[in-house]
Amino acid sequence: MRSSSKVAKIGAVLVSFSLLCLAHVAATTEDFDIKEDYEFPEAFKFGVSTAAFQIEGAWNEGGKGESMWDTYIHEHPEYTLDHSNGDIAADSYHKYTEDVKIIKDLGVKYYRFSFSWPRILPQGTDNKKSKDGIDYYHKLLEELRRANITAVVTLFHWDMPTPLMDLGGWSNPKMVDYFLDYARFAFEEFGDEVKIWTTMNEPHQHCYNYCYYIFSVLQSGTYAHYMLLAHAKAYRLYEKEFKPRQNGRVGITLDAFWADPKNSTDPLDIEAAERYRQMRLGIYAHPIYSNIGDYPPLVREIIDTNSRLQNFTRSRLPVFSKEEIELLKGSSDFFGLNHYTTYLMSHPTINETWTIPSWDHDTFVRMEQNLAWPIPGADWLSVYPPGFRKLLNWIKNNYGDVPIVITENGMCDFGGLKDYTRVSYYNDYLYQVLLAMYKDNVNVEGYFAWTLLDDFEWTDGYATKFGLYEVDFDSPERTRRKKLSADNYRNIVEKRKIDFDYIKQPKMKKLPYQTPEEENTV
Ligand SMILES: *[C@@H]1O[C@H](CO)[C@@H](O)[C@H](O)[C@H]1NC(C)=O
Ligand SMILES: *[C@@H]1O[C@H](CO)[C@@H](O)[C@H](O)[C@H]1NC(C)=O
Ligand SMILES: *[C@@H]1O[C@H](CO)[C@@H](O)[C@H](O)[C@H]1NC(C)=O
Ligand SMILES: *[C@@H]1O[C@H](CO)[C@@H](O)[C@H](O)[C@H]1NC(C)=O
Repeated sequence: MRSSSKVAKIGAVLVSFSLLCLAHVAATTEDFDIKEDYEFPEAFKFGVSTAAFQIEGAWNEGGKGESMWDTYIHEHPEYTLDHSNGDIAADSYHKYTEDVKIIKDLGVKYYRFSFSWPRILPQGTDNKKSKDGIDYYHKLLEELRRANITAVVTLFHWDMPTPLMDLGGWSNPKMVDYFLDYARFAFEEFGDEVKIWTTMNEPHQHCYNYCYYIFSVLQSGTYAHYMLLAHAKAYRLYEKEFKPRQNGRVGITLDAFWADPKNSTDPLDIEAAERYRQMRLGIYAHPIYSNIGDYPPLVREIIDTNSRLQNFTRSRLPVFSKEEIELLKGSSDFFGLNHYTTYLMSHPTINETWTIPSWDHDTFVRMEQNLAWPIPGADWLSVYPPGFRKLLNWIKNNYGDVPIVITENGMCDFGGLKDYTRVSYYNDYLYQVLLAMYKDNVNVEGYFAWTLLDDFEWTDGYATKFGLYEVDFDSPERTRRKKLSADNYRNIVEKRKIDFDYIKQPKMKKLPYQTPEEENTV
């Protein structure tokens, strides 16, 4: 998961707490909807997701090289809310057998995790390989095989090897080759064991939030281009050289908040919402999933026009050749989707303090939250389940019946085993998935909860918790404990239905001055 750019800075915790109080008042409103008794189909894939840097720890063991996240937060502890780092994280590098066991206890048949690129190729390039790193993933895959759990492997989940980041990361066209070399090695080495791959996780967040805003190392604009090309070339490499004998599938994971117009009858707000969707999701999805390919015409027009006004000789958004457009078109066997929250969009009426040029300035929307929606943890994540169904429909309307795999969905709070709010979040968001499937005929193939266990949440450090299992980060054992939401998810997976009464928050008298902490002690 991610945290949002500007709100991710220090001080966000205070904002969260004040919003939290508002949120909990609103959350008490009963939901009077009559729920239909929909079932997830037999073939529906249930899983859980994690990412290497967020759980593995062992940052310098077994010949592992540094990733940009190791390097930058060692140099700048202030980049994370709690000045923490990923040196140990949940220590999954040493505790993977226990982690496979708790995955099995959830009853899910799929586990999505990522390979740490610098754990396998310490310098990023394929001339040097770490035997220990490679062995680690073989051992993890073997453990999963014995537990009958299918591995879904992400090749790039943001932990770019530092030597490659020093070359400019994804703004450097050479990255396409380096990624291709890494992907080829991964397919060769692990392709007999791994049958479902995603090339990249949330390209938007990697570059917009972290590279550009937090680490200030990239110019906005070009990164999307080379990430897309690297993805497409890896897909075609697999298709040509590995698929015939390994017979797996390759996709990509994109992320999006849903964007609703703030004023649903104001044409300018309606346009702002659609502009945001195209700049955020369409820029990556259109080249891959649309029938005509290439960037969305609206995105092309916005960035070309602004580049001209900003006196660039050429557009900040590079141009795909005809061959590249064809290479990208259809270069994914499924649509990996990460979704968490919804924002309200309106046409800016005040002068925003955007940097020019920037993605924000190009997108040109005023983004705000509906304060009636609960915010149980980090301030960027308010709970609005219907946004999920709207997003799934938008994807279907724009890109047809491509099978959608929800590769991440979940909610953060500030901890506690009795996580009733998370139980409701999963019930309500999964119900929207069922509505999209049964009422709107959206082709949803699977669902992965984010996340298995409390982890390093990037710039939030360990302050916010997304796990189905708690991790005691104060203990050297990094003890895992099951939360109520884990029981609830296990029940959904087993019954293939959402039982809204399975875990009920005990009724209690709500006092107006009651704090969220007090509620959690129930
Ligand atoms: C794995 O699945 C096979 C076939 O469905 C079954 O026979 C076996 O008992 C399962 N093993 C475990 C450890 O669940
Ligand atoms: C919403 O937009 C419509 C059309 O522009 C306008 O007439 C109306 O006053 C707006 N409503 C609010 C609450 O601003
Ligand atoms: C672009 O160049 C023109 C002509 O020199 C100048 O008037 C204008 O301010 C420049 N625009 C920006 C955004 O710098
Ligand atoms: C925004 O800034 C421009 C140029 O400084 C100014 O002309 C305009 O009135 C401002 N608009 C608002 C809504 O403040």
